[in-house]
Amino acid sequence: MLGPVILAASRSDRMRRLVSAAPVTKQVVDRFIPGETVDEIVPIIEDLTAKGLELTMDVVGEDITTPEQATAARDAYLLLVERIKDLGLGTRVEMSVKLSMFGQALPGGHELALANVRPVVEAAAAIGTTVTLDAEDHTTLDSMFAIHDELRKDFPQTGCVIQAYLFRTEADARRLAENGSRVRLVKGAYKEPAEVAYQQKHEIDKAYVRVLRTLMEGEGYPMVGSHDPRLISIAQELAHQAGRKLDEYEFQMLYGIRGDEHLRLAAEGHRMRVYTAYGTDWYGYFMRRLAEKPANLRFFVRSMITK
Ligand code: FDA
Repeated sequence: MLGPVILAASRSDRMRRLVSAAPVTKQVVDRFIPGETVDEIVPIIEDLTAKGLELTMDVVGEDITTPEQATAARDAYLLLVERIKDLGLGTRVEMSVKLSMFGQALPGGHELALANVRPVVEAAAAIGTTVTLDAEDHTTLDSMFAIHDELRKDFPQTGCVIQAYLFRTEADARRLAENGSRVRLVKGAYKEPAEVAYQQKHEIDKAYVRVLRTLMEGEGYPMVGSHDPRLISIAQELAHQAGRKLDEYEFQMLYGIRGDEHLRLAAEGHRMRVYTAYGTDWYGYFMRRLAEKPANLRFFVRSMITK
């Protein structure tokens, strides 16, 4: 019940101001977004990679309102690529981007987002890594997939995300599995209407398994984005049935969620990639993490009251 309310709040400017100004917010936010600047995030990158984990880095931000903000987002990612190069971690650390942060929702946004994301993809490729396009709400996805196709002409390693809760996803998965793409499958984190998405957890989980089977049996590189223990064992079984070796798929989880499981899967020989977000515009990302697990909200509210 609470999840949809929190997701609605994630798009409210009034709530954004209220939550961002609360004195205890930062401590709770740090669990999911462990830095605001590239200098603060470098030690985290070093620590996680030293533990045998791979990373995908997200500079938080979305729903920007001016082209200048889109350019600033591009530059923030270019700076990050420079730092990854200096660390010599190009083969271990990739980037995740939200096209709304690159201007997708502005007038002429499709072309603007493509123009802003391309230099990041080029810079990533030059140091031996790649970029994955995150999936945002369903109204943005035709544009996201078209940009993905365009980028893949020059950079076939560019990945994208598909969301099990959307009815369209089984068809998207078949197309991507046939054309050999890197694809991260997630359950989906936005508030979507019943006309386009499953609403019940058991329906979403069943769709996740169907889509995952398609990806595992296809030609691409499946990236299993979930913390759900049941889905993780099913993924291992489906990979085995499809004859995939350990380096022919990977697991991905979010920083701050089930950290022991990250290490356990890596120790078993799996490629385990941790999605690590940083930056100052953390509100939308943080609220989606609260919506996924209402206990997080109780913890947040309790820390505000007891402070
Ligand atoms: P589920 O929500 O059922 O959680 C399973 C278990 O994991 C829970 O019981 C709990 O123990 C733990 N858990 C999950 N979320 C938690 C939280 N916030 N706090 C504490 N514990 C938690 N979505 C999207 O729409 N577009 C995208 O591009 C991405 N990208 C993305 C990348 C990666 C690497 C991951 C792992 C996830 C995403 N997501 C996403 C988010 C995704 O859609 C989904 O909302 C979350 O992963 C939660 O779903 P689970 O599959 O973990 O299952």
